[in-house]
Formats: sequence, structure tokens, C-alpha cells
Amino acid sequence: MCGIFGIAYRTEAPLALGPVLRRALERLEYRGYDSVGVAVMTSANSESVQVYKDVGKVSEVVGKYSIDSLRGVAGVAHTRWATHGRPSKENAHPHVDCTGAVAVVHNGIIQNYAELRERLAAAGHTFRSETDTEVIPHLIEEYMKALPPWEAFREAIGQLRGAFAIVALIASEPHTLYFARRLSPLVVGVAEESAVVASDLPTVLDHTRRVIVLHDDEYGYTAPGEVHVERGGAPVDLASRVVEISWTADMASKEGYPHYMLKEIHEQPMALAGTLSGLDWDTLRAAAEALHNARHVYIVAAGTSLHAGHVMALGLARLGVKATPIVASEVHSVVGAVGEGDLGVAISQSGETIDTLVAVRALRGAGARVMAITNVVGSSVARESDIVIYTRAGPEVAVAATKTFTTQVLVVNALLHALAEAVGNGDIAHVGDNMQRVPHMVSRVLQLTEGPIRELSRAVAGRASAYYLGRGLGLPVAMEGALKLKEVAYIHAEAYPAGESKHGPIALVADGFPVIFVFLDREVEKALMGNVMEMRARDATTIGLIPPGASHLAELFDSYVEVPYLDPYNNVILYVVPLQLLAYYAAVHRGYDPDKPRNLAKTVTVE
Ligand code: G6P
Repeated sequence: MCGIFGIAYRTEAPLALGPVLRRALERLEYRGYDSVGVAVMTSANSESVQVYKDVGKVSEVVGKYSIDSLRGVAGVAHTRWATHGRPSKENAHPHVDCTGAVAVVHNGIIQNYAELRERLAAAGHTFRSETDTEVIPHLIEEYMKALPPWEAFREAIGQLRGAFAIVALIASEPHTLYFARRLSPLVVGVAEESAVVASDLPTVLDHTRRVIVLHDDEYGYTAPGEVHVERGGAPVDLASRVVEISWTADMASKEGYPHYMLKEIHEQPMALAGTLSGLDWDTLRAAAEALHNARHVYIVAAGTSLHAGHVMALGLARLGVKATPIVASEVHSVVGAVGEGDLGVAISQSGETIDTLVAVRALRGAGARVMAITNVVGSSVARESDIVIYTRAGPEVAVAATKTFTTQVLVVNALLHALAEAVGNGDIAHVGDNMQRVPHMVSRVLQLTEGPIRELSRAVAGRASAYYLGRGLGLPVAMEGALKLKEVAYIHAEAYPAGESKHGPIALVADGFPVIFVFLDREVEKALMGNVMEMRARDATTIGLIPPGASHLAELFDSYVEVPYLDPYNNVILYVVPLQLLAYYAAVHRGYDPDKPRNLAKTVTVE
């Protein structure tokens, strides 16, 4: 989950490297904010790197060590989300060898680090941290006793087990970066005056739009104007691997909003319009056919993406397709039932969530075909799936997913529409027609609900807990609303099928306990109204998201917000938006930074 970056320039004369490293750190901060560090080659003749690292936020560490004023010809940078070793200055990256000539930044976990460490310590290496990462520079140092840097790096990588994205800087080769990838993402930039490697595309885009997305088990080196990649000892032909990326790095900056989360909530009309216009109906029809022919559909995903999976499962059931949504990390409990003729559906914004990737492999290993819905072109999940459908939400920086969820649901709805057409089921045929109106309707939702929600969020911000209740398609929306509140406002929030609330959860309800109801489907309205009455009778503070002009619903609630109504499937998108805003403003009222929720990472690349 850590963020990594490296840059090496062609020039012999030291450049203003500090601002470049700071910029990279700022972009990577969302990947982990336990600690921050950089290593710099201050001149092409230096025999060792200079390292500056500490616990804290990027702005704090950058200020404390005057990172902005650093000059040099090459540098690496890292933001850490701790796995092995608590957050501390010693455990912060970069890690160096005994001589200080090899600096390494790493994302992932080296599973066999204990035995490597023992071996290296016995050979006389001194370790300064508790991390798994520190074995890497020492291993390179050890091999460099007999081999030139590139060969030494290659040998060292060959010793590592686990998941990793690595960038290494070696003082004797100041214009070169060494890199390796297994499971964790890594992107190499292709430019003439500099060599760039990073865990994230936007960070590379600050320097070049021409990139190579590394595949699993690839490793190599890059210098200005040169990239060399190998896999299993053989060079990889890169001729067809260089892609030109149209996302500008600026698309990933805040554009005047106080937080990325709010910016991304407001970007939803644009993201949805982009996804809509990018839909490839041939692929969707082929995907619909695969769903139709599947013996059973297993939908695997994590976090927010799983909620899009629940929407899909409900829609598929409506269309007569047997589907089970499963937490990706629990796939092992169903895999025994999976076989040929089954279809897996992996939903993942990043396409790099390790639980989802492992689930894809398990499903394929059991004989199923897999369809991926992802936002990141060339991501691991995309590459390992048989059918790929992209959401086109653009880069999402805030840890809490917003626009990537609504675009996932749009893709799910498009698939359901294609399937409904294929099977001649008129029941949800209108979903496809209404879909065209979704981007505009989301703009309306933002205009109509942001003010009232901001007001309402004050009351929720003062409470320790909240329930979110819904029925049918209202349930995944309730689940997503509760997850958002937990993630960014640190308020204990639970979502339940409204009918189930009587079987336990209601015991907590008294004295103004906030209960939020999602009324997005007229079919289940009556039953849900009954659940509101039950909560009122226990002195809950009831809050309703209801269709416009529904006075019979409005009168049930202590507070309500009217949300435009299309049809239940498209309403999932419209009705989740006020709940995203509610979580955002509750976090802000409570004085938290919604972009950096504690203990969470945007992309979870450890099991
Ligand atoms: C992390 C993020 C969540 C995200 C989940 C799945 O937990 O904090 O926001 O929903 O991973 O990520 P994916 O990239 O697979 O959709």
C-alpha cells in the first residue's frame, strides 16, 4: 500500500530535485501516511545517497528536513503504510545498505525476509530497522561484491518471495533506476531527459505521458532514453508495451476544492458521462451472453466495489441468473462449488486489490471464466480476466471511493440492460433509457441536496453511532452510506435490511439515535414505511432520502432530503450521492481530513 517513486536525470550538474520529490510525495500520500522519506544522489560522483525520513505527514517531513531545497541528479521517495515494523523513523523508507550506496523503496511484503536477514546478518550486514524491506539493499550490496549493479540487482530480486514493487538507486550508476514488480503495481515512464518509475500513474504523468505498465514478475532498469525489462531471465520486447496516456497529471489535483473527496463527489456527472460514452456495447453484449450462459455467477470484490457487486447480484436474480456476491477474501469458502461453466465477476476500482486478484486466480483455477469491471487500464485484475469492462471515472485520489462507485454501478446497469434485452425481459428494460439521464440527474442531486445535507450532517457528526436501513436496492446504498461514514467521519455506522433491524439492531435505538432510510424503490415503500414507524416509536431521530413530492413519506421523518427519482437501478447512483456528502461533511464538522482516513489505504495490496 505504500507509494513509491524514483527519478534519475541525464544531467551531470545537480538540479533542483527537492520540489520534484515533494510533488511526488504529495501525490503518493494517499497510499500511506505513517512515514515519509527520500534518498538523493546530490552529485553524479557521490559515493553514497543522502537519506531524509521520518514519521508524519508529507508536509511535516518536507518542512522538517527542508526537502524542497535539495539538489541532485537522482532520487527516490516513499510514503509508508506500515506492515512489518511499527511506524517509526528507523522503519521509514528509503532503506540503505551498510555503505549507504544502495537505497531502496518498496511496496508490498517480503515473505522470506526473516531467513534472508539471518543469512545477511551472519555475513556481517548491520540492520537498522525492523522492516522486511531492509533485506533488499543489503542483498544487493552482498551481490555487488562480485557483480556489477544490474546483475547484482537481478540476483537479489531472484531471492525475494512475496509481493513487491521496488525501486533501487545505486550510487555508482547515478543516472539509472532499478525496478521490479510482483503483484504490487509499478509504472515506468519513457522520456529522453529523465528516467521515472512510480507505483502510480499520475506521479509518472508529471514527467511524461509515455508509460510502460509493468506486468507481474518483470524487473529491469531505466536510464534517460532507455528502458530494459526482463522476465524469467529473458528480455521483454517493449515495442508494443509503450502506451500514451491521455489523463493529465492535473486531472488528479484538487482544482479548488478543499479535499479530493469533495472534488471527486462533484466530478461524478463528468465521470458518469465519460463512462456512458465509453461503453462498448459489443463487449457488453458479449458479457451479457456470458452471464446468461453461466451456470452460476460469483461476484468477488472488496469494500465499496462489493456494494456495486450487490447491485449486480440483485439485478441478475431479477433476470433469472443465479449470482452470489462474495467478499473477495472469503472466496475460499465457495471455491469448492466452482467449476467449468461458472462465471466470476471481479469488481475493483484499482484492479490491484490483492484479495480480489487472489479471488480471480482461485475462480479461474477452479475452471470458471472471469469478467472484470475496473477503472485502471492494464491493471492486474484486467490482465488476468477473460472479459474486461472499464469504468472511465478518471483517477480517484481520495481514499474513500465515490465516483468510482457510481461509475461501477452505471456499468452494472448497462450490463443488466444488455442482458434484459438478450433474454427479452421487459421488467428492467427502462434502465437503459434512463441511464442516459443519469449524469445530468446527478448534477441535479448535487445542487438540490448539498445544502440540506450539510446542515443535517451537523446532527449526525455529534452522534457516536448511526443506522442506515433500506430494502432491495436500497440496501447496497445503505451499506455504502454506512461505510463512507465509518471511513471518513469515524462514526460507528451499520447498514441493515430494514426488516432485519427488528432482530437485534433496534435494541440500541433510543434517545435521538440517528436512523437513515433510503426510499429508492416504490415496490418496497409500504414495508419500509412500517420500519420508520418502529424506529420513531423508540425515539430515534429518523432521516429519510425520499422521492420528490412524496408528502406521505415526508411526514414520517424528523428530517428528509428529496432526491430525484428515475428507476430503482439508476436510483442507486442518485441516492448514494447525498450519503457521500453526509459522510464528507460529518468528517469535516468533526475536524478530520476526509482524504486521509486513519488506518485505511486506497489500494490494499496485502492479504
Ligand atoms: C480499499 C479502499 C476502498 C476500496 C477497497 C477496494 O479498502 O480503501 O475504498 O473500496 O479497497 O478497492 P478496489 O480498488 O478493489 O475497488
